[in-house]
Amino acid sequence: MEQTFIMIKPDGVQRGLVGEIISRFEKKGFTLKGLKLLTVEQSFAEKHYEDLATKPFFSGLVEYIISGPVVAMIWEGKGVVATGRKIIGATNPSASEPGTIRGDFAIHVGRNVIHGSDSVESATKEIGLWFPEGPTNWQSSLHQWIYE
Ligand code: TYD
Repeated sequence: MEQTFIMIKPDGVQRGLVGEIISRFEKKGFTLKGLKLLTVEQSFAEKHYEDLATKPFFSGLVEYIISGPVVAMIWEGKGVVATGRKIIGATNPSASEPGTIRGDFAIHVGRNVIHGSDSVESATKEIGLWFPEGPTNWQSSLHQWIYE
């Protein structure tokens, strides 16, 4: 089953949005396979965002991500990478639809509350970086009510 990496950024944690965000993924029917609250170091944040290293906003982005604790999660389910991105909404909250996390809770692109892997390939890489111990293996008892 497909997995994605989701991170609630420091602003989301500071603003008390952890429960709300987890609730949206749970209510959709996805299964939580990993969860931790941690503060990462600069080199770790730079590794996570290495594909954006040449962007003008890179150093500000890294500063923001290391500014406080983040909630790192693995979510599992059919199509969870693409659907997770829909639940999160467009990168710039000014373009995110109401009903999405960024559309409902953010205004500025540099404080957009949450990260979600943009492809299955990135998800595998990001889960490996953030959860070297691997996911927690368990089977939700709701499975038969979520999938035919
Ligand atoms: P990106 O990977 O393009 O977006 P997403 O998070 O939706 O996958 O960019 C990573 C983060 O970089 C983005 O969530 C917010 C930040 N960012 C800026 O601060 N300014 C910008 O102009 C862009 C495009 C992104």
